[in-house]
Amino acid sequence: MASTSQIENGSNLTKWGILGAGAMGWLWTYYLQRAKIDTLLLQRQNTSYRECIIQKDNIFENCRTSAMKSDNPSLPTIEALIVSTKAYSVKNALLPIQEGLISKQTPIILLQNGLGVFEEVRELFPKQPILILSTSNGAYWQESELLKITGSGSSYLGTLDNSVPKPLKNILFNRLKATGLPISLTDNILKKLWEKLLVNCSINSISALWLCRNGDLLDNPNSKEIWKRIVLEGVEVMRQELHQEVEPSEILSLIDQVAYKTSANYSSMCEDRRKNRPNEVDYILGYVVRKAYQQHLSVPTLETLADLLKFPENSS
Ligand code: PAF
Repeated sequence: MASTSQIENGSNLTKWGILGAGAMGWLWTYYLQRAKIDTLLLQRQNTSYRECIIQKDNIFENCRTSAMKSDNPSLPTIEALIVSTKAYSVKNALLPIQEGLISKQTPIILLQNGLGVFEEVRELFPKQPILILSTSNGAYWQESELLKITGSGSSYLGTLDNSVPKPLKNILFNRLKATGLPISLTDNILKKLWEKLLVNCSINSISALWLCRNGDLLDNPNSKEIWKRIVLEGVEVMRQELHQEVEPSEILSLIDQVAYKTSANYSSMCEDRRKNRPNEVDYILGYVVRKAYQQHLSVPTLETLADLLKFPENSS
């Protein structure tokens, strides 16, 4: 692993790997480069670079990153790896680089929506430093190689176990902070993940069913009514998981805020449906439903939505 002093001395280790060339992978590639961090995209294709156009506030910029096939045995040293693939692809995407990452003890930063991925990755990497980056930034593909960044939400970095020494956590946090995106380091990432989980249960599910933008849900009394039911059921599960009080009204206003800030955005689940791709229902609504069963709680709205969101693309 890169030692703390090597990194602080600014030696040539400020290269970050990105696994997953979706909207979030490119969004972080773009912002890391703005913070003068070199990026390397690990991908299935065998090309030495990739590029796309980023549109932000009506300004168009070309974003180009070096790239390599992820099963290439000569993986260079990277300071950290951001994993931005869909939740259901994480394990398979990590397998080709598992050995290389373990031998260098490279920190892994997970960026997925939902919950459950950490446990899967921990099984593959029993001793690796694993961090979670929970973010509500909005970006979607306007055209196949044109990514529109629609809103800078808040991001939180934290850990779900004690695998990351504090100095390393601080270094990685400072790198991410240098991107200029609003980000905080938190000791309670699980709470942030649950809050975002309920945001995703609410925004992603209805927008995917109605095939609409996040902002279209804001003034709609029907979506507001469904959000209320989702939150009342979800908060009960969240309370028991976190062993702490959670106010439904706070979650509801967070949902409003995220929908407002990303109003021009198609949620990731809506995009998946528009492109006939599998969605992350098992890690979002499905996760809450599974936890509710374990706690003997009844969550009829979440259960029905989880069933409705299992489109044929999800049953491969
Ligand atoms: O999944 C998504 O699309 C995003 O998490 C969010 C924040 C709901 C914005 O669309």
